[in-house]
Amino acid sequence: MMLSLEDLNINLANYITSKTPDHVVVVTSKLARQFCLNKINDLTNCDIIEVENGEACKTLQSAAFVWEKLLEYKVNRKSMIIAVGGGSVLDLAGFCASTFMRGIPIMYIPTTLLSMVDSAEGGKTGINFKGVKNIIGTFQQADIILNCPTFIQTLPQLEILSGWAEMMKHGILEGHSLWKTIQNGILDASDPNWNQLIEQNIQFKQKIVQSDFKEAGPRKLLNFGHTVGHALEALKLNDPEINHGICVANGIMIESLIAFEIHLCNTEFLNEINSIFNRDFPKITYDKSEIPQLREFIKADKKNDIEGIKCTLPNRIGDVEYDVIVPIELIEKVLLNWISV
Ligand code: GLY
Repeated sequence: MMLSLEDLNINLANYITSKTPDHVVVVTSKLARQFCLNKINDLTNCDIIEVENGEACKTLQSAAFVWEKLLEYKVNRKSMIIAVGGGSVLDLAGFCASTFMRGIPIMYIPTTLLSMVDSAEGGKTGINFKGVKNIIGTFQQADIILNCPTFIQTLPQLEILSGWAEMMKHGILEGHSLWKTIQNGILDASDPNWNQLIEQNIQFKQKIVQSDFKEAGPRKLLNFGHTVGHALEALKLNDPEINHGICVANGIMIESLIAFEIHLCNTEFLNEINSIFNRDFPKITYDKSEIPQLREFIKADKKNDIEGIKCTLPNRIGDVEYDVIVPIELIEKVLLNWISV
């Protein structure tokens, strides 16, 4: 259910009253604290653990900092952690909550579009390690998620784009009404239609997660665009103009080219994908000399196994398959072509 700011405050107060935690601790980032936390009445006087903004918080050092603070605040299994922020804060806080004392209850209040439609849902928590995205983590659902689309109005356009990429991915996987809506283009930050669109995206993701929580099968569909996308993200970690969604959008375009090379999708599909993604997203480029680095990141992807590099690739809109084994040489060829055109 999508909540107004007023309803968010009411639901939060009711939930805390019903659970009677002995202690509430908030994990948030500088930005989320500045733009969102001050709008959530019940949380302003709690103990607050502030971590770095964005991907920079998904480190072992940040996890250690959060665990230290949980010890200092004497958090126990009867306490409640509330994560307020974007996907990175939720991933980190969820990871720390699921490992501290083998599991402390956690509530998510996502403050970005990306975290509402993707990161908060599905129970994946994690941090990056040795340059590999989300390589350390757990599967643990939040006890409750409170979504308030009003927070979208606090976001820069680049951040809205980040969530939009995952929504476009959902549209391609779903292939019907979601795809049709996505084709109409991104909404303005204050558009009331976000509520319905976010709700539809969450429901779509929940259906897939419910069928395969631990990602042994169909949940891998949600990885479309992420084999190459995560590699691009690892390569561009220090570029402030490039975020998760922009990498996933480029990843979807590049993986579609890979699918074309192995005769899964046709030219018509490629044209459709290219026209919509080029309309909404900037193209990521890299130097030819960086392709070996991309190759190493792709080889380290969690979906791979002894059989080889396993990608989620499209046949057509609404028809995507997972566990497609792709030779690394072919991926490198497509990565080279991408910067040659
Ligand atoms: N973001 C992909 C998943 O939750 O499975």
